[in-house]
Amino acid sequence: MATFLLRINQQSREVDVDPQMPLLWVIRDFVGLTGTKYGCGIAQCGACTVHLDGKAVRSCSVPVSAVGTKAITTIEGLSPNGQHALQRAWQQEDVPQCGYCQAGQIMTAAAFLEQQPHPTDDDITRAMSGNLCRCGTYLRIHAAIKRAAAQTKTP
Ligand code: FES
Ligand code: FES
Repeated sequence: MATFLLRINQQSREVDVDPQMPLLWVIRDFVGLTGTKYGCGIAQCGACTVHLDGKAVRSCSVPVSAVGTKAITTIEGLSPNGQHALQRAWQQEDVPQCGYCQAGQIMTAAAFLEQQPHPTDDDITRAMSGNLCRCGTYLRIHAAIKRAAAQTKTP
């Protein structure tokens, strides 16, 4: 066991855990933020996606000891009031079905739009190709990202 001081959703959290423990388990079981989901555990589905210093990562495959001082953002911290452009677009397009994959989808999309605020359809397809949805909500996810991008377009 070892002590780590994590910066998560702009708050400091100290945890005493095995250094090899995946960040996902630390977030869920030790910090108590359960919006981030476990899917495959092997970096293949994207359900566990969070941001480290704004970059989308698979938290199931990042040992807590590798986080260091990087800022962790989970779906709970994406927007102070849950009104991120993507969260609004997700509601407007009525995207989720069972909902299980959706936090990871939004976190991947949010990091992507930060990098590429005016994406083409192909850009969106490519950026989201690593996030799987058992319910097949891909078309609505695509539409919601387009909607969010259009809302942030500069005139
Ligand atoms: S649970 Fe991490 S990528 Fe599937
Ligand atoms: S909405 Fe059910 S897995 Fe994606």
